[in-house]
Amino acid sequence: MSDKKDTKESPAMDTKKKSDPAPVESPKKSDSGLSRRTFYIVLILAVSFAILIWRQYMVPVGTPGTVISESTTGKPKIGGPFSLVDQDGKAVTEADFKGRFMLVYFGYTFCPDVCPTSLSAMADALDMLGDKADRIVPVFITVDPERDTPEQMKMYVQYFHPRLVGLSGTVEQVAAAANAYKAYFAKATEVGGEDYLMDHSSITYLMGPDGQFISHFSHGVDGEEMAKRLKEFL
Ligand code: NI
Repeated sequence: MSDKKDTKESPAMDTKKKSDPAPVESPKKSDSGLSRRTFYIVLILAVSFAILIWRQYMVPVGTPGTVISESTTGKPKIGGPFSLVDQDGKAVTEADFKGRFMLVYFGYTFCPDVCPTSLSAMADALDMLGDKADRIVPVFITVDPERDTPEQMKMYVQYFHPRLVGLSGTVEQVAAAANAYKAYFAKATEVGGEDYLMDHSSITYLMGPDGQFISHFSHGVDGEEMAKRLKEFL
């Protein structure tokens, strides 16, 4: 009896099993593949959005075109100790300017356009303020110390204003000062030898007699507007 049962069932079962098509899992598989792809797309979008937000708020203030936020969170941490050399070859630090306002601008004497415009505006503002300007020391700090020696700075600053202080120093000293002021600079193009341009931020910083950052002027602010705004702080 048992023998018969075996022989009767087995062959039928075997053939059925063998003729069975491969398990049809494709619809289910593509379903989970689709949702996984959706998950990745959403993830990428979320990360991109996060990066956008981060760039919006966290980009260093020295980057060209960036506006320094002075609003709700208080004054940004700009300025601080520096150790440089003036146009007469004398070593100076931030302590030498204590008790007076400082207008600080970072640039370089070979600058074809931006620096002369900003320094002219600064000089115009000082002239318009008359005696009141005596409380302000205009300071031009080079970001190109390799070419801007104290001698070169001396020749350059007197062209703009008799009181304009031109600060240079070693590459390291200049980098430290720029870093303290969150001023951006980089060598841009090297045509050959000494023929190169510098990228640099074009912000004029107003520092208080206590050495603390007060306000800034963006590139394009003319002397008249600068004088008007400076009056509010003097
Ligand atoms: Ni410049």
